[in-house]
Amino acid sequence: MPQAMAQKSGRGFITNRFSHSSRISVSRTLFIVVFSFAALPVLSAQTTNSALLRPTGVNAPALDARVESILQKMTLEEKVGQLVQYSAGQPTGPGTGRTDYEDMIAKGQVGSLFNVVDPHQINTYQHIAVEKSRLHVPILFGLDVIHGFKTEFPIPLGLASTWDPSIVEKAARVAAMEASADGIRWTFHPMVDIARDARWGRMAEGAGEDPYLGSAMAAAYVRGYQGARLDAPDSIAACAKHYAGYGAAEGGRDYNSTEISEHTLREFYLPPFHAAVEAGTASIMSAFNSLNGIPASANPLTLKQVLRKEWGFRGLVVSDWNSIGELVPHGIAIDEIAAARKAFLAGVDMDMVSSSYHDHLQQLVSSRQAPLSEIDEAVRHVLRVKLALGLFEHPYVDEAAAPKALYHPESIATAQTAAEQSFVLLKNANGADGKPLLPLASGIGNVAVIGPLGDDSSYPEGTPEGTGPRVGLFAALEKRLGSGHASRFKGCSILDGTDQEIADAVAGAQKADVVILALGEDPGMSGEAASRAHLGLPGRQEELLQAIAKTGKPVVLILFSGRPLTVPWAAEHVPAIMAAWFPGIAGGPALVRTLFGDVNPTGRLVVSWPRSVGQEPLYYNHLNTGRPPGNVDLTKPAHDVETKYISRYIDEQNTPQFPFGYGLTYATFSYGPTTISTHQLNAAELNKGLHATTPAMTAEAEVTNTGSRPAGETVELYIRLQGTSTAQPVRALKGFKQVTIAPGETKKVKFALDPEAFAIWNDRNQFAAEPAKLTVWISPDSERGTPADATIAP
Ligand code: NOJ
Repeated sequence: MPQAMAQKSGRGFITNRFSHSSRISVSRTLFIVVFSFAALPVLSAQTTNSALLRPTGVNAPALDARVESILQKMTLEEKVGQLVQYSAGQPTGPGTGRTDYEDMIAKGQVGSLFNVVDPHQINTYQHIAVEKSRLHVPILFGLDVIHGFKTEFPIPLGLASTWDPSIVEKAARVAAMEASADGIRWTFHPMVDIARDARWGRMAEGAGEDPYLGSAMAAAYVRGYQGARLDAPDSIAACAKHYAGYGAAEGGRDYNSTEISEHTLREFYLPPFHAAVEAGTASIMSAFNSLNGIPASANPLTLKQVLRKEWGFRGLVVSDWNSIGELVPHGIAIDEIAAARKAFLAGVDMDMVSSSYHDHLQQLVSSRQAPLSEIDEAVRHVLRVKLALGLFEHPYVDEAAAPKALYHPESIATAQTAAEQSFVLLKNANGADGKPLLPLASGIGNVAVIGPLGDDSSYPEGTPEGTGPRVGLFAALEKRLGSGHASRFKGCSILDGTDQEIADAVAGAQKADVVILALGEDPGMSGEAASRAHLGLPGRQEELLQAIAKTGKPVVLILFSGRPLTVPWAAEHVPAIMAAWFPGIAGGPALVRTLFGDVNPTGRLVVSWPRSVGQEPLYYNHLNTGRPPGNVDLTKPAHDVETKYISRYIDEQNTPQFPFGYGLTYATFSYGPTTISTHQLNAAELNKGLHATTPAMTAEAEVTNTGSRPAGETVELYIRLQGTSTAQPVRALKGFKQVTIAPGETKKVKFALDPEAFAIWNDRNQFAAEPAKLTVWISPDSERGTPADATIAP
């Protein structure tokens, strides 16, 4: 496919949000000639990599001659040196490997350093590499730049909730400009792991549970970080991580083992990585987890067969932090020599921190346990990235200019827009006046901000150093309303609190006209090594919530978290609930503008929101089981044989509290039935056109704004295939489109579905269309919509 497909996807995904309104009729009905992105870039072994054809970037053929000329001058020690990486700053994992970097760099024994954020320090190391090492090969400096460098954006889960790849791309561009000005030319991001289990803390770092949306976001991040030219000084190399299957950690416990069939891996977990490769990612990080008994950092199926052979990836594979050393406790290596051999032979080019490549690779070559040809190939991958970045031409950073790249007003404005788009309005019931509680009236008397997350200091930081001009919720509210109209009560801390604090907050609520309750998690409760067995509000926050709600005052609950939280009581009793995730540097102003209706909330869930932790893992694109609840009357007694022997809990519903794709806004929309251009497709024809971009079918629906204000709506397209050789999800997202619709106006929203949209990973692990019954929904979330039916004939 890939070139044509990637171009089409790129063009589609980066179109301006809500910008499509080409009128072809003078009536209130508009026809939107906007095609969706009809198929995932998941392809077969014959796939070529579109990025190979790019004039710049890590795959540019023009780099080959330069790579070879450096390689042929290298000693084995210098080659191995390029495959070695250490953390030379604030550690982001256990152990240090080595600390004598300066001496090692001078000997050409280090290829990359990370976690160094001081530009002067970066230059100091770089001078040693470029001036003292024999071949003058520059060091590649990396860092976890995951939602901004200094200008902090919403966490990736929030960014994905925008369903807007163009804002994600802009966020990544800002991060790249700031980080590169500091001398960092490599980010360990995007995290493209599919996350189906909210217990897993790293759900916060990715794009949620869906491979189609995840692929769109993966490509957007790569485009944003790497820019139009990777060798531009303000571009940084992306690193799609954690390859592969890390998000399926059993029990949601970080670093835990994963069991994922090859079918499920290919159909759900690999597509976002493939999308990142197609978009030209310079690097991939191999994961910590054991994958079907073979740790991901020593897994030839994923690293060699899929990544190199099938996808044609020519960039760099780096291990995760000590994940080579961890092959010993995993139990597949008896010592570090065996660990180095297994990881290297499986296809990991660079060793992050463990030092086992430094310590053992030369010996493995001389004892013929690792072929020199493979060492050369790994070094080629590293050199390609350094050359593609233009590091040989521009190894140093301008220390004086570095601070000038930070916190540009436009960057902060982009962070605010991203935050506004990331909020998901989960509930907005009518108040005493019969109108929805939100948006708040501008002339409101007194608003009390209650809860541990209402202050300026409550937002997480993009990097350990990322401070800057952050504005929190209460400060922004007070600025808007003027003093005397906003009051602040902590109510409790995140993890504990006193009876007195709760009593003071209740008294404060009683004097207010509206209460904004800012509750949730501490930022450190999600992310790496932050899995939770309980998904409710931590500490005494649920108690505070219920005490405030009982005052009878109108309550808007704003949830700050890196995952969905189980709040069934609030879902029933609190009139307005909004998920704000961790919204970044401009989170306060963005929230206030949203609460008062200056902007509409337009975010949509990218993860299914559970009712209780026992439902996890919970995801919309599940298989049906042989005994689905389906049309069974669940009100019948549980001992009734009709209702007993079905796949469900005896003490909880199957359905989520709020489904994937769901989110309200300040308008309401009605959807007409889905109509499709043909009711008969042909599998053989689809397979012939699998890598083409000629639509096999178009689907459309009329969407009417039944509210009283213009608003943006994300229109989603799902399909289901039945009768196929492998069971397919009850619904699978195959397109989405954002449109703005005026009150009373109807727009026809049209999607073009390419042949790939109907192809599946079959029972022989091939990607192909098969005869099937097809159902197509155009809908506002993964549970609603009036479908159209078709057949795929042989
Ligand atoms: C371990 C994390 O899993 C990974 O995401 C990160 O990039 C590295 N540490 C480096 O900090």
